Amino acid sequence: MMRRVAILISGRGSNMTALIEAAAEGFPARIALVISNRSDAAGLAHAKAAGVATLVIESKPFGSDRAGFEAVLQAALDDHQIELICLGGFMRLFTADFVQRWFGRMLNIHPSLLPSFPGLDPHGQALRAGVKISGATVHFVIPETDAGPIVMQGAVAVADDDTPDRLAARVLAIEHKIYPQALRLLASSGVRVEGELCRTTAGASADELISPTII
Ligand code: GAR
Repeated sequence: MMRRVAILISGRGSNMTALIEAAAEGFPARIALVISNRSDAAGLAHAKAAGVATLVIESKPFGSDRAGFEAVLQAALDDHQIELICLGGFMRLFTADFVQRWFGRMLNIHPSLLPSFPGLDPHGQALRAGVKISGATVHFVIPETDAGPIVMQGAVAVADDDTPDRLAARVLAIEHKIYPQALRLLASSGVRVEGELCRTTAGASADELISPTII
């Protein structure tokens, strides 16, 4: 059964594109709608070019009236019979009510190995902490920002001479791999939330990532 998915974006939408491309080739989910809270989001053009329905619901006019914005958003999701939501760089916080309504059905991706480095500038945070491995996390959304049961993570080695931009580029490549896989798991009922944890039907990889590498 094809699950109907909406992707919410605010900008570039490269994760959105990765999800659309994966869903185009034998996938248990259909990307039925892309919603942006900004009319100038570059990702909108990519979604349209891929033949996906798009909608702009400007959040700015709502100011701090989050519930007002979410009422319009929810109506759009209902109209399109959306069952699952993927946040892809969606830069707007939700009310606890909205998050509760979608709990277990709304994923986010964040470019760090959560629970390390939530919030802004995760790559700067990682470099300042001197971690040798960083990565990206797909997780269920809860009211707390960049937190919630972890569905999937991918890791990259951090180099001593990395800049936030260089690290971001390598992490982004991992994001584009794990987000489609996490959505595939969720859409095919391969995911179960147990309290604060997420269990999956997928196995653990036998690969180790050790950094730095001594040659
Ligand atoms: C991605 O790196 C995503 O992980 C991050 O925003 C970027 C959006 O890029 N999200 C967060 O930091 C959430 N706290 P994209 O628009 O190209 O997918």
